[in-house]
Amino acid sequence: SFVPVKDLLQKAQQGKYAVGAFNCNNMEIVQAIVTAAEAEKSPVIIQASQGAIKYAGIHYIAGLTKIAAKSVSVPVALHLDHGTSFDQCMLCIRHGFSSVMIDGSKHPLAENIALVKKVLEVARPLGVSVEGELGKIGGTEDDISVSEKDAFFTDPVEAKTFCDETGVDALAVAIGTAHGQYKGIPKLDFDRLREIVKLVSTPIVLHGSSGVPDDAVRQAISLGVCKVNIDTNIREAFVYAAGKAIQDNPKEIDPRKILTPAREAAIETIREKIRVFGSSGKA
Ligand code: G3H
Ligand code: 13P
Ligand code: ZN
Ligand code: NA
Repeated sequence: SFVPVKDLLQKAQQGKYAVGAFNCNNMEIVQAIVTAAEAEKSPVIIQASQGAIKYAGIHYIAGLTKIAAKSVSVPVALHLDHGTSFDQCMLCIRHGFSSVMIDGSKHPLAENIALVKKVLEVARPLGVSVEGELGKIGGTEDDISVSEKDAFFTDPVEAKTFCDETGVDALAVAIGTAHGQYKGIPKLDFDRLREIVKLVSTPIVLHGSSGVPDDAVRQAISLGVCKVNIDTNIREAFVYAAGKAIQDNPKEIDPRKILTPAREAAIETIREKIRVFGSSGKA
């Protein structure tokens, strides 16, 4: 069965590396994630967003990932990405997820804390890990001005309050990354990350990590990031390879001929990420 994310992140924190959390939404991507992790002898987190669960169906996500985890020797966790309600978290726990994110970042601090506590009350006794989020991790379409930075980025003192009061297992922070493709090169607020890590011992999660230069990711990990979320770079690798296969063989009607190179491209992208995160050989 799936290992708790908490255990993976505790080891990562001690070993100064990060565990990759890769988004899936179909069979080929699930296979790519565990194949890459096995090849790198790395622990891995498979994660599914609410949108992915809606697309594939919770039974397929739970079923495909369970078989994937059984097919490899490395530790595999299954995590709900950006859960927005208590009920969504409960549904995933019932289906065997070993970790859930309750993203209360749109709520005021007190409500965010209350929501995380409510999920933890059920999750903790079951050994299911819980990730919270503080600060607003934007989409790349949001242009954040300097004055907005303080309003959107994670406040280190609030982060301490949030972690002390909830006892959450992982904390997602807003330090300049965004979901989706970046227009330019993202600039991370490392000083803010340093401040957060000084005040908080909870493992830190970096969202929106696709498109962040490898050196910046490595620096964030050296400062205390233990979980790195990747979705967009997998989508790009998968879809570009599928597109190329169609272009090269316009008469091809066998989906397997299109999706085999797509899956191979996803495996290569995930392996490269795992190497950057420093988790190769840590299984
Ligand atoms: O955090 C967002 C993930 O990339 C999932 O995106 O809601 O389109 O599945 P999605
Ligand atoms: P990217 O799609 O930018 O890699 O973000 C992934 C993410 O943060 C999932 O929670
Ligand atoms: Zn995210
Ligand atoms: Na991104």
